[in-house]
Amino acid sequence: MVTAYDYNQALLVDAAGIPSILVGDSLGNVVLGYDSTVPVTVDDMVRATAAVTRGAKRAFVVADMPFGSYQSDIPTAVRNAVRLMKEGGAQSVKLEGGKDVEKTISAIVSAGIPVMGHVGFTPQSIHSFGGYRVQGRGENAQRVIEDALAVERAGAFSVVLELMPADLSKEISEQLSIPTIGIGAGPHCDGQVQVLHDMLGLDPTFRPRHAGHYGDLAGVIVDAVKRYVADVGEGEFPGEAESHYSRTS
Ligand code: KIV
Repeated sequence: MVTAYDYNQALLVDAAGIPSILVGDSLGNVVLGYDSTVPVTVDDMVRATAAVTRGAKRAFVVADMPFGSYQSDIPTAVRNAVRLMKEGGAQSVKLEGGKDVEKTISAIVSAGIPVMGHVGFTPQSIHSFGGYRVQGRGENAQRVIEDALAVERAGAFSVVLELMPADLSKEISEQLSIPTIGIGAGPHCDGQVQVLHDMLGLDPTFRPRHAGHYGDLAGVIVDAVKRYVADVGEGEFPGEAESHYSRTS
């Protein structure tokens, strides 16, 4: 699984054969330039999800429910999940939390919407965690295990395990019957998810270790734009090949 936030990215990752696309609320960081996912709105997610589902020809699309869209009450949560399905065209939604959102997940599943859970480090709670911190060390491990079990009990079809020790994600993956999808959680999960911009190196100032190194697109883009600027400045572009000479055809 990998994230995508627009039509073109969805076309490309779909063509690469990715089984599943996450329209992550990491959109707030990598597309909108916020310093967390907290400000992302349902409208932001609906717009991005609709663009992604227009580009994804075969991948299964999961849309993130943003902060504030499911925390207040269950009818609001169901209504917002329905919007992501009807207006965004998603095939499922993802929301963060464990025992605290068990009833919310159950209600959304009962409305006929497949739900993916997300436990461990949950970015929407960054201010409660006090920053990007590995979760589930020491006695906190049991809390993460219980959260994952609650998500499964609620009827989720899968769960993201984020930023936790590899031996903990291994234990959770063994205990759960639904597939676990890891990010910064080691090699023992059933699948992996990455933020597209991180794995492709689109932001030279932020390259999390767990994202691996699958490209340096920042370098490629900066180099291409520098050459374009230089060519236009020196009168090298556009040339014959890029010009139209006839006024009648
Ligand atoms: O929003 C996102 O990209 C996510 C991943 C970190 C799993 O939730």
